[in-house]
Amino acid sequence: MFPHKIGSAWEVPAPAKLNLYLDVLGSRTDGFHELETLLVPVRIYDQLLWSASPGAGPGTSLRIRSLLQRDSPETAPINAGANNLVCRAAERLAQAAGIEPQGTFDLYKRIPVQAGLGGGSSDAAAALVLANAAWGIGYSRGRLIELAAGLGSDVPFFLGGGAAVCRGRGEQVQRVAGLPHLHFVVVKPPASLSTATVFGQWAENAAPRGGLAALVASLHGGTLVQAGRRMVNRLETAAAALSPWIERILGELAKQSLCGRLMTGSGSACFGLARSAWHARRVARLLSGKDLGSVFATSSC
Ligand code: C5P
Repeated sequence: MFPHKIGSAWEVPAPAKLNLYLDVLGSRTDGFHELETLLVPVRIYDQLLWSASPGAGPGTSLRIRSLLQRDSPETAPINAGANNLVCRAAERLAQAAGIEPQGTFDLYKRIPVQAGLGGGSSDAAAALVLANAAWGIGYSRGRLIELAAGLGSDVPFFLGGGAAVCRGRGEQVQRVAGLPHLHFVVVKPPASLSTATVFGQWAENAAPRGGLAALVASLHGGTLVQAGRRMVNRLETAAAALSPWIERILGELAKQSLCGRLMTGSGSACFGLARSAWHARRVARLLSGKDLGSVFATSSC
């Protein structure tokens, strides 16, 4: 994530992510769950801008413009208050650096919320990077990652670039280099799911574990059908018990000639692994007419 300067303002694109593998290893005493997950950033972007607000005094304000595709009233509203992760990230950075936060953030939302696509976490990472540059703080990426972990489990992932295996709550990030360019079709149903609720519904089961190394090897080797078979999300059963959309969308994806299909994160979005950009666009076009919600053709970045 690299901010650009435009006159006296700063801007950074905030990508979404897909989990190609998500194993829940157990619950922890701190209320979180121990994870092993493969995250890939994808080209569905929010955009975050920061500009000075002359004469406004200390403190930041946040304006949100929703560019989301048409969604149903079931979709969770975006919180624009001080509790928004963008404001919390800026506040945390200012506190750590011992300065007064200032200026206006403009957030252009394209990533569906409560979808398992990491939009809120990516926005928080973008706010850290942007405020670090705009306020001339000059913290290293490592220092920003330390602050990021306290904001959300996925925030450290977004501060780096490219795919990564994440462990712990998700905050222990190990980059995976050399993956091929991957193409996806993503479907976000009208219903959203809360991460905490889905984790709350998760139950230990006796399914065989492992397979992450084999998945990464298949991706490195470009054997996408094999990779598709190795994609696993251990939160799928919990999410499917909360929303009928998960099975419905996975069922629709199964009817297409995709290499694999999976729910991302804690849902409610699901995705298919396509053979090419053209294939992803063709399947997206087919699914767009089926009243499944928002459909995107996208690729890894
Ligand atoms: O870290 P984040 O704010 O994204 O987590 C939201 C909620 O999801 C947590 O409060 C927790 O209930 C659940 N969670 C979890 N285990 C994780 C990550 C999230 O139980 N590894």
